[in-house]
Amino acid sequence: MTVARSPAKVIVTGEHFVVHGQPALAAAVNLYSTVVVESGSPGIIEISSSELGIDARFQTEALEKNPEGSERSILEPLLLVVERTLERSGSKGLGLRLQVKSQIPVGVGLGSSASTAVSTAAAVAHFLGLQLDRRQICELASVQEQFIHKKPSGIDALITTYGGVVLFKIGLSPVHLQPTDEVRIIIGNTGAARSTGDLVSKVSHRVQLGDRDLTRISDAAGQLTLQAVNAYKKKDFLQLGRLMNENHELLRQIGVSTPQLDRLVEVARDAGALGAKLTGAGGGGCMIALSRPEHDKRISKAIDAAGGRSYIVAMDRLGVKID
Ligand code: MEV
Repeated sequence: MTVARSPAKVIVTGEHFVVHGQPALAAAVNLYSTVVVESGSPGIIEISSSELGIDARFQTEALEKNPEGSERSILEPLLLVVERTLERSGSKGLGLRLQVKSQIPVGVGLGSSASTAVSTAAAVAHFLGLQLDRRQICELASVQEQFIHKKPSGIDALITTYGGVVLFKIGLSPVHLQPTDEVRIIIGNTGAARSTGDLVSKVSHRVQLGDRDLTRISDAAGQLTLQAVNAYKKKDFLQLGRLMNENHELLRQIGVSTPQLDRLVEVARDAGALGAKLTGAGGGGCMIALSRPEHDKRISKAIDAAGGRSYIVAMDRLGVKID
């Protein structure tokens, strides 16, 4: 039996714009997905998850043929990861039983799909005796990200694989920054699930049409992320918070915020957050607030009182891990 786990993520600055070549800053946080792999009946892959409400069996030779319906849409991307990992180890007909557990709310911008995919790739590879480094695990997991999110930047799979804090830009090596305990991140979940792929496509469509406003806002967001990285490195968290507020404004301008996200952002700031913004694709999902440790509970209560579900999280330093 092999058990692998990997963390959730938050985008601190730069979501959406990162898909179009701008840098973004992301942090891994201590909510985890866990995948347990055991051997199963030959030629059969079983995947179960009480959190996701799934319990299904697949024949490895006929993955594309079954099952039908909603289980297929949840499971198919995970199966792709399993299938690629089996192929890579040359053990295609083998039977596996996977149990997926997750503390990460699904479809709300915290990287639940990337985390599950990374945990799956790592657990299956380790179970099959494949020695993969983080880059290879991230590559395998990205199959599912492309399936679900259509044209992802790759930031979600990367941050959940490596953990910590990362400055990411498509085509460049990621820059790993030192995680810190000097500030807290408070997540506020609006509870409104949405599709990252659809939101990314909506913004991308405007870019393809040559929308000048979008180009201007995107360039401003890129500059803002570089300033945010400097502020983070200097531990100037007041400035980092201000930049997060500005980033929320840019995301509002491209139409990916919602009244409920704006409301949670506002109450978090009023309760003493250094800065607050939506995180991930927006359109519902989650916001984050940056806080001094002494104010985290006040902010979390304010988010709950405004109808959100808050989580006070710490930065994860390890990324994917075989237990
Ligand atoms: C999703 O966590 C972040 C987006 O920028 C999409 C992506 O980068 O793939 C919205």
